[in-house]
Amino acid sequence: MKIAVIGIGYVGFSNAVLFAKSNEVVLFDIDKSKIEKVNNATMPFELPSEENDLLDKETIKRLYATDDKVKAYTNTDVVIISVSTDSLGEGQPLNTTNVESVISDAKQFAPNAVIVIRSTIPIGFTKRMNEKYNCDNIIFVPEFLRENKALYDTIHPTRVVVGDTGAVGQRITELFKKAYENCDVPFAQTSSSEAEAVKLFSNTYLAMRVAFFNELDTYALENDMDSKAIITGLGYDPRIGDGYNNPSLGYGGYCLPKDSQQLAVIYSQIPSVLIKNIIESNKLRKEYMAQKIMDSCSGAIGFYRLTAKANSDSFRASAVVDVIKIIKSQGREVLIYEPLIKQDDNLGVFYDDLQAFANASGIIVANRITPEIEEFKQKIFSRDCFNRD
Ligand SMILES: NC(=O)c1ccc[n+]([C@@H]2O[C@H](COP(=O)([O-])OP(=O)(O)OC[C@H]3O[C@@H](n4cnc5c(N)ncnc54)[C@H](O)[C@@H]3O)[C@@H](O)[C@H]2O)c1
Repeated sequence: MKIAVIGIGYVGFSNAVLFAKSNEVVLFDIDKSKIEKVNNATMPFELPSEENDLLDKETIKRLYATDDKVKAYTNTDVVIISVSTDSLGEGQPLNTTNVESVISDAKQFAPNAVIVIRSTIPIGFTKRMNEKYNCDNIIFVPEFLRENKALYDTIHPTRVVVGDTGAVGQRITELFKKAYENCDVPFAQTSSSEAEAVKLFSNTYLAMRVAFFNELDTYALENDMDSKAIITGLGYDPRIGDGYNNPSLGYGGYCLPKDSQQLAVIYSQIPSVLIKNIIESNKLRKEYMAQKIMDSCSGAIGFYRLTAKANSDSFRASAVVDVIKIIKSQGREVLIYEPLIKQDDNLGVFYDDLQAFANASGIIVANRITPEIEEFKQKIFSRDCFNRD
């Protein structure tokens, strides 16, 4: 089978690796640097060292990337869309322009191909596209990977939800089942709108959970209690569980903020207070954290890493960056240690030497504590209770 993967990001590249084991895969992107990386058999994003073993070097060498639409789409059986769908801001729907332009190209260059959307889209989008093109071969298969475990999660998914209950959905289910023949993955076939809902409600639930444990942590801080002891006690209840409960400066990253915002837009017509207030809770948490940090130190405030999570190379919608912006707006001096960025004058003074950064900082704010900063523990401000995401 020939598969064209459109968009060489975390989602596109990981899906290409998955399907290239038993299919011919061509990747397409408008970003030439990513095309070059793929054709040089290198990663288009930073791979955490523990994921290196997941990369089958022979599979990577077989991948081919291009920005030539004819080469990408000709004789393609399946087009996988994994382009970005950015937020247009609070109260606005997701920007689906990229996905719409890829569907238009696919219809022109590969009219018989099944189009599988893996980008996150609003509820009802796939149905609208099938109506627009008078077809039934555009389907949504939500991707649930975590950015700092993109390859692992793609190879070992928690579930596969295929958003089509008819023959096209069955064909795509078979394609995924073949890719996962060695793992025990639950499959579900739903309508396209239900699959779109699964994606948005999943991420909004996760955002709500982070917001809940962050508000618990705010309570503990205000009452001089140990958050770790309280959260551990809660986690013994299997209905609550002990994952996704580690306090932070706020939730962030590419997906949780934009997906919860998208659901809040949809809920503007639905009687509800919870969904909309998850976003408010996260804003309040970042403001509260910024104030606590400023109150803890009168000197320069150092930030260790800007990434939302340990082992991540992504700063998209990072809560750390939002907290820095609040602190900077109060005229406070901010120092930053972030090996993946050399300079950003709007955020603060960047250091590439950890010791020099630690010496110059009055406190060191760490969203997540890693072994390399343990030696500075007297200076560290962190709400990380469990040394994990
Ligand atoms: N990152 C995640 O953790 C994650 C998880 C699940 C779902 N998603 C969703 O998957 C989609 C992709 O996410 P990502 O993190 O891989 O994004 P990304 O920003 O890493 O990659 C997107 C790629 O699409 C390319 N692109 C944009 N417009 C294009 C066009 N018109 N034609 C060809 N290429 C184009 C960009 O150049 C970029 O390389 C988004 O909708 C996102 O919400 C992301």
